[in-house]
Amino acid sequence: MKLPELKIGNKVAKVPIVQGGMAIRLSTARLAAAVANEGGIGLIAASGMSHPELRYEIKLARSLTDGIIGINIMVAASDFVGIVKTAIDAGIDLIVAGAGFSRDIFGFGKESGTPIVPIVSSVKLAKISEKLGASAIVVEGKEAGGHLGTDISVRELIEPIRAAVKIPVIAAGGVLSGKDIADMFRMGANGVQMGSRFAASLESNAAPTLKEYYLKSQADDVVVINSPVGLPGRAVRTPFSKRVMEGRVPPKVCDSCLKACKHNFCIVRALTRAQQGDVETGLVFTGEYMPRIKKILSVKEIMSNLLAEVENCYN
Ligand SMILES: Cc1cc2nc3c(=O)[nH]c(=O)nc-3n(C[C@H](O)[C@H](O)[C@H](O)COP(=O)(O)O)c2cc1C
Repeated sequence: MKLPELKIGNKVAKVPIVQGGMAIRLSTARLAAAVANEGGIGLIAASGMSHPELRYEIKLARSLTDGIIGINIMVAASDFVGIVKTAIDAGIDLIVAGAGFSRDIFGFGKESGTPIVPIVSSVKLAKISEKLGASAIVVEGKEAGGHLGTDISVRELIEPIRAAVKIPVIAAGGVLSGKDIADMFRMGANGVQMGSRFAASLESNAAPTLKEYYLKSQADDVVVINSPVGLPGRAVRTPFSKRVMEGRVPPKVCDSCLKACKHNFCIVRALTRAQQGDVETGLVFTGEYMPRIKKILSVKEIMSNLLAEVENCYN
């Protein structure tokens, strides 16, 4: 199978692979630029960043690539609008918004001509997104890492959503191999978004300890916790996630970073601890199929392996 280009608004990616945004600070400039340099789309995870930090990351990514760089931001963040406006002001190529749904963001996109790409998990939200002016949608299934909007497999979501909208559909969740990519395209997807495979890459901003921890994870280590955002979240069973599943781990300090927080633990601090390599007290977000990954590879190797695998599929 030959993969087509992916057109989002006025941006055209030669390779229809989006590197999913991964907060806190797992997908920063270096990873996003590496993916963009291979012809894909790189996303900086902006959730939890200050405006100067986000501006710095965008500028750094621009210095490393001429390719397509976007941001990913969590709608549930208190500073959602501030981050969106900062990214637009810094000349970002596109904005992907997940963990909630925002109608306001389409207005900001229209004003500035910035493509807006919401993450959805239902036909209903896909149709609303198109009507509001989305340039594309990411359709995320239950296999994904981080916050989950559904318990339905992406393999069941793509066809009905494809039939319901005309804008590009980007499949996310459990896409790890060239065969997975080819399957998604056969079902009607125009692109794929991949998280886990890039979290465990050379250019991922995860501490080496966290990357090694990902490689050691087994299928029955993958659990679902209740995130303070008010959504389920997929994570590796760590001593910390075990405590969260057993009850509350109330934060001692609070920066009010979420519009509405359940206060069962502090998600920004817990994700930051994991990103820095503290897999004991950190929250280790993961996709369902992370345990299939056996080696940390560079983005270049990942992309060329994927494209070679796709080429050999369905011939
Ligand atoms: C460690 C980790 C952190 C993530 N953080 C975010 C995030 O901040 N925002 C978001 O929209 N999605 C987030 N995701 C989801 C990914 O962007 C992607 O859509 C998803 O992981 C795709 O599934 P896969 O991991 O099976 O490829 C995260 C995923 C992982 C593995």
